[in-house]
Amino acid sequence: MPEKGTEEIRQEITGGLLAPSMHIPSKYFYNREGSRLFKEITGLEEYYLSRTEKAILADNLPVLARSSRFGCVAELGNGDCSKISLLFGSMTAEKLEDINYVPVDISVSAIDGSVKVLQERFRELRIEGVVADFMTQLQLIPVSDHPALFCFFGSTLGNFEPFQRREFFHNLGASMQKGDMLLLGVDMVKDVGITENAYNDRQGVTAAFNKNILNSVNYFLHSDFDTKKFRHLAFYSEKFERIEMHLKALQDMEITSPFFDTPVFIKKGETIHTENSYKFRKEEFSDLSGDAGLALDETWSDRNSWFSVFRFRKK
Ligand code: TRP
Repeated sequence: MPEKGTEEIRQEITGGLLAPSMHIPSKYFYNREGSRLFKEITGLEEYYLSRTEKAILADNLPVLARSSRFGCVAELGNGDCSKISLLFGSMTAEKLEDINYVPVDISVSAIDGSVKVLQERFRELRIEGVVADFMTQLQLIPVSDHPALFCFFGSTLGNFEPFQRREFFHNLGASMQKGDMLLLGVDMVKDVGITENAYNDRQGVTAAFNKNILNSVNYFLHSDFDTKKFRHLAFYSEKFERIEMHLKALQDMEITSPFFDTPVFIKKGETIHTENSYKFRKEEFSDLSGDAGLALDETWSDRNSWFSVFRFRKK
């Protein structure tokens, strides 16, 4: 969960509920239950993203590990240890000793979890978790003599809006030194059916994950959202090349909270927008990275080009 002042959080959520198009910021998905459900999503048959990315990394990280020396490996966002382990697992103890591994996340518990697992497995590694918003606080990542490797996996970039994506690249480029690398894993534009299925699994795990954001809102606002009164809605927008996730009201309702001046009325059929997951085309990255002073020097994909990991180097 974001470690922010509760007052700020309440204002942010209330603002979204009172906006002309109702929305809830997607970072509030990740309470304890949300993080558990998300882990379950990554193992679902329909959710090809995680296993495809991991297979791409398994094919390519060992070569990178053996051919480079890094002083710092910074992983942005809630890391799934198994991905970065594919890198460290192919390094000699001597190489590992040089490395400062810096997981960056806004959630303390996400960092604590991965630090424990990785430190046990890679004793030579120095680990220095940073609790920060990687959108704006990249300067908190310590610099080192050997080049740094930045990793941003899981197509989390796709959960940013285009303007945030540009800002992110700009900030990252500014905090990278010449020769530093970025590995970026993103989901690609593909068949609509396959894309939509990934967010509409038969077991309803993604639906439960989506609805659980209302429990998270209830926690912060002491409000009375009833998850049973909403339906999970996830569809692909060809226009924006993104999956949109919404919660659709199954009936009229009135939501109360001690922090609202008046109740919030929701009509049957109205939707609350909870997240976008943009899909990418390779071409998009030449502009984005060029503006940030980065050059795209490798592209790794699966056989079907469903998912890609791009490697950029700071010029
Ligand atoms: N970034 C990944 C994606 O867009 C993971 C993710 C974030 C996700 N929010 C989600 C997956 C909501 C399913 C539902 O797919």
